[in-house]
Amino acid sequence: MRQAGRYLPEYRAIREKAGSFLSLCFDPKLAAEVTLQPVRRFGFDAAILFSDILVVPFALGQQVSFESGEGPRLDAIAEPVVLRRLRHHVDHGTLGPIYETIERVKEKLPREVALLGFCGAPWTVATYMIAGRGTPDQFPARLFAYRYPEAFAELVELLVQASAEYLVRQFDAGVDAVQIFDTWAGILPAGEFRRWCIEPVARIVAAVRERVPRARVIGFPRGAGTELSDYLASVPVDAVSLDWMIELAFARDHIQSQRPVQGNLDPLALLVGGEALDRAVDAILEAFGHAPFIFNLGHGVLPDTPIEHVGQLIARVRGKPAAH
Ligand code: CP3
Repeated sequence: MRQAGRYLPEYRAIREKAGSFLSLCFDPKLAAEVTLQPVRRFGFDAAILFSDILVVPFALGQQVSFESGEGPRLDAIAEPVVLRRLRHHVDHGTLGPIYETIERVKEKLPREVALLGFCGAPWTVATYMIAGRGTPDQFPARLFAYRYPEAFAELVELLVQASAEYLVRQFDAGVDAVQIFDTWAGILPAGEFRRWCIEPVARIVAAVRERVPRARVIGFPRGAGTELSDYLASVPVDAVSLDWMIELAFARDHIQSQRPVQGNLDPLALLVGGEALDRAVDAILEAFGHAPFIFNLGHGVLPDTPIEHVGQLIARVRGKPAAH
């Protein structure tokens, strides 16, 4: 989940210095620094590479920019013919600075702190490529997939290949594990979920392990709910990230019994802090603390989150009194 970001003053300072968000992602020195900031401040057990899932469409030749406060903007793909403008492979020249960021972070990170790489899952990345922006319901991509299933399948396959190549290079550069973010998985009907989320992500995992047999992969099909069992039956991920919506007892009995889980604090509980945060943390520790488990949020840290609440959370999880 997002560790760096606008809730940290040291991030905001570097973000300003870098100019655009993408120039920050493609500046190995600054991106490495931003990756390390949360680990330095909080002593997390793992760092997540600072980048974005939309660097892959960018490396496929699509225009991508981030308007401050408004999120991503891409040149939308309204009909299949536009897909011909994309490259057939990611341009590793474009992504090169990200691999260099990984090398720099690895050099500076304490040996016992893991480094996570990541990519977006094809469905989630495609929703932004087609709509050209974030939308609350992903109507544009869902309509496109129903109207032009063959063209959509081609786009998804292109993203499977591109993401697999990108993840292999991340392992070559030194990440210890990768997470595949399918932020918009939960919006699809079951049949579409299987076709556009489960199957493509399973193909990415297989393609990565063919080249990097030891590759450790975490899946995050956000909003999959009870269909997480189907996901785990078909996608050989090593662990699964849980969103904050899933019921804890269900997740413990049906998901954690199959694979280690990571999650799943509601980012709003972190934002609010106090007793609401303590209660939410305790419920998660009680549910998942007796089997393989990584404490995390159910989604990224929100920009308005007070920094002290992160300290409170860590102290609670580690069973120590919060430092003031
Ligand atoms: O914490 C870290 O250092 C990890 C870096 C990271 C970012 N994006 C940086 C970022 C990661 C893992 C992501 C993943 C990502 N990006 C996802 C999947 C996970 C999720 O959060 O759902 C998605 C869907 C995106 C696409 C994206 N990037 C959107 C929709 C937005 C705008 C919305 C927002 O929260 O602002 C971004 C921008 C973005 N990516 C920011 C950061 C820190 C915020 C911009 C900024 O602070 O300058």
